[in-house]
Amino acid sequence: MERRCRKISELKDIVFQPEGRRANVQARVSILKAAKLAGADLISICGGKGSCGKCRVVVEEREKVGPPTKAEEDLLTPDELSAGYRLACQASIKGSLTVRIPEESRTGKQRLQVEGIESPVGLEPLVRKYFVQLPKPTLGDPRSDLDRLLEELRKRYDIKNLKAEYSVVKTLPSVLRKAIWEVTVTIFNGDKIIDVEPGDTTDRIFGYAVDIGTTKLAGYLLDLNTGKVIAVEPLMNPQIPFGEDVITRITYAMKGSKALMELQTVVVDGINRILEDLCDRVDVDPGEVYEMTAVGNTAMHHLFLNIYPRYLALSPFPPVVREGVNVDAKEVGVKINPNGSVYVLPVIAGFVGADNVAVILATEIYKKDELCMALDIGTNTEVVLGNKEYMLACSCASGPAFEGAHIKHGMRAASGAIEKVTMDPKSLEVKYKTVDDAKPCGICGSAIVDIPAELLKAGIIDVAGKINRDLDSSRLREKEGVLEFVLAWKEESSIGQDIVITQEDLREIQLAKAAIHTGTVTLMKEARVKEEDIDVVFIAGAFGSYIAPENARIIGMYPEVPLKKVNVVGNAAGTGARMALVSKTARKNTEKISKKVKYIELANEPNFKNELMNSYYIPYADLSRYPRTSRLLRRLGKYPKKPIPKFK
Ligand code: FES
Repeated sequence: MERRCRKISELKDIVFQPEGRRANVQARVSILKAAKLAGADLISICGGKGSCGKCRVVVEEREKVGPPTKAEEDLLTPDELSAGYRLACQASIKGSLTVRIPEESRTGKQRLQVEGIESPVGLEPLVRKYFVQLPKPTLGDPRSDLDRLLEELRKRYDIKNLKAEYSVVKTLPSVLRKAIWEVTVTIFNGDKIIDVEPGDTTDRIFGYAVDIGTTKLAGYLLDLNTGKVIAVEPLMNPQIPFGEDVITRITYAMKGSKALMELQTVVVDGINRILEDLCDRVDVDPGEVYEMTAVGNTAMHHLFLNIYPRYLALSPFPPVVREGVNVDAKEVGVKINPNGSVYVLPVIAGFVGADNVAVILATEIYKKDELCMALDIGTNTEVVLGNKEYMLACSCASGPAFEGAHIKHGMRAASGAIEKVTMDPKSLEVKYKTVDDAKPCGICGSAIVDIPAELLKAGIIDVAGKINRDLDSSRLREKEGVLEFVLAWKEESSIGQDIVITQEDLREIQLAKAAIHTGTVTLMKEARVKEEDIDVVFIAGAFGSYIAPENARIIGMYPEVPLKKVNVVGNAAGTGARMALVSKTARKNTEKISKKVKYIELANEPNFKNELMNSYYIPYADLSRYPRTSRLLRRLGKYPKKPIPKFK
């Protein structure tokens, strides 16, 4: 008892402002851990390793935390340290205190792109409702309640060989009698009764489709009588505090079953939170939602299903299961109808997941005559090349730069994020547009694509991405040995400082786009096709429909094809999840797609490293493969004077 009291007295009360969230923690735990416990909105890109420098918080009562670590001395300036800035993952708690999370360290309310293309699909959901009127039992007809129900379904709807869930049988006598023998029966997959309700409720049957992204969750509530979406809701993936990329989360899950369960529980909590909001909004009871489909990359798939993901991170990166998984909703903790089920679409390989199968389903690449390329851009970008004859897929470690991470003023598409940038090639003046037209506070993905393209056209950088230090512009300067270009002046911004793009940021963007470009050229080489053979390029994922396809082409994110062949399809993975929810045939097709796609492991390709180096140039070391961009650069007088060295 005495020990217990002593333990409780050691608990420190931590308050996170401006949200006012609180946590009680033991001394010596990190502020980041306390923030996770409190559910506070705090970015932690590297998962607490002390390398990303994004978990910045302000601590006024300095004596209540341990001294700055080496990582903090490296990642924070002396001015910042003396102003009370600390890295939450490094600062250990000594006493009760208040922690302020500055705006730049919050994920904030974001504009999350959840809309995707609509692909027409026949309505044939696995869950259906049937209304029946039963004859009452009599001495001459003393059949069991269940036999009476099954016989009526056979007679009226020709449904045979049905089984009933035990929980349905348990409540059957009271439901039938209360309903005066008029009930609605919900049947899953034509052979299992999962619900019996009084009266005729055939017009109330709903389904839930979820795209479990590394960064965001997108939930769609559908009316299964019409196949239409009736409400949509995004949410940041609550696993983010455990690390922003899949490897960090896999590493966390590898600590043991408790850690794996922790990751599974937080993502299911998020999925349930969206479900509750959607249902509230359109007056649907979660009990009227009978099925859920889910897509996600293979790591998200495993973590959602509580499957140990260790081997996804170890060569040759095999998934535990490739086929689609059907599981009872209650087994994974999803709060739809207690007898409802969850179908998780099949995956292709360890790094090409169910989300990519869904993209192929939604874009219908698998049935097209035309040669298509699809890019699903995210922290990991998947590239698919093919048509109804063959499909190749690879996964590119593009990293989170296009989602704002590792970029000095990078942020997600929240209010005030610069989302579009243009530059005058003569005056080098900058025009930008921000989300909600608010004062700028950072730069989001679509502008992160615009910036190198605009800098190149203006001659501020060369094709190697190097800033030209000889330019005469007040926007160009050197800070602590790093060149940077000012996009928005302090007076215009809401963060009290200039918003800049640095030489280091440009390197990060180049690395990200080089990874994607390497994927595209490797698949083209494998399929022995050239740019002119490609009929359609689909761009899906992270930026939604906000990306400027021309600038993405100028920076060499995809092969140079005419813009009329480029199709921005938003969250196509979400579309695929919805299609699999309303159509049995679509669901069968996902299994065929997953078997048919040939996975190409980029790191195994003999020329991989050279391709990566060549792809680092903007748009590419071999400019002859970008004739339109070359013409544009010539016209602007920015075409390289010396030949670009190529890696062979
Ligand atoms: S430095 Fe703290 S989470 Fe990355």
